[in-house]
Amino acid sequence: KEVDLDLALQVAIEGAKGAGGLILKSFRKDVVNKKKSLTDPVTEVDLACEDLLRALIAKHFPTHKFLGEESFEGSYNLSDDPTWVVDPIDGTANFVHGLQWTCVSVALVVDKMPMVGVVFNPVTQEMYKAVRGKGAFMNDEKISPSQVEDMPSACICTEFGANRDPEVVQKKVDIMHKVIQSPVQALRCLGSCALNMCAVASGNVDGYYEWGMHPWDVAAAFLICTEAGAVVTDLDGSAFSITARRTLVANAKIQPQLKKIIMDAGAPMQPSVN
Ligand code: IPD
Repeated sequence: KEVDLDLALQVAIEGAKGAGGLILKSFRKDVVNKKKSLTDPVTEVDLACEDLLRALIAKHFPTHKFLGEESFEGSYNLSDDPTWVVDPIDGTANFVHGLQWTCVSVALVVDKMPMVGVVFNPVTQEMYKAVRGKGAFMNDEKISPSQVEDMPSACICTEFGANRDPEVVQKKVDIMHKVIQSPVQALRCLGSCALNMCAVASGNVDGYYEWGMHPWDVAAAFLICTEAGAVVTDLDGSAFSITARRTLVANAKIQPQLKKIIMDAGAPMQPSVN
């Protein structure tokens, strides 16, 4: 299982830039929704980006496994083997609408733990990256979470996700109601889980929570957040897992406050669906 992590980082960056180039070429042009649902679109560009990433990774690491959003077939099957966990476009709905909060997310996971993570926004050219034990960076700048200490000064992010089941939507609205009235300075749904997490890692956002995301949404950003010094847990503060489909990430001061608000408001620990 010895993996050259420096090479893995180079490959992740090259792949993210390549996929980012495809995204930019089609940005604010007509793109076709190929399947899924209206609330969870997948475009021809998602598919092309995933193909590009899969081929590049296979060229350098032919024995490694691959888990990608667009080739996912119902079960993650995540083993301890080196596995590349890839979201070719996170924030696809933003991409479809020409909104800039969209990115490519690439992680190398070994023993179910992300070892290398890259999140690239091709529109802003912001490249977030981390290798386990080596800190987190945005382009070449070391990043760290904010110093904000209390909720009235905090900017918190969450998302509605793709599920339109009335009970699920109502629960999300109820929890948002509690968060906004805690009170907070700002509550945002920006539309990309990976970029929301990177915004906590780099101190632009003070906390983020969501449930229903998949490993490809969180794997790279989880490493970037932990390497930056943010606290990443399950919604109730217990250990985070990339397959649990629940995330709470914040700076160390905001994390317990946000956790209490969302848990008191009934954030669901089961079932782990969106
Ligand atoms: C989605 C986005 C969205 C979040 C969903 C994700 P996708 O990823 O990150 O903000 O609410 O949970 O699945 O479908 O754009 O790759």
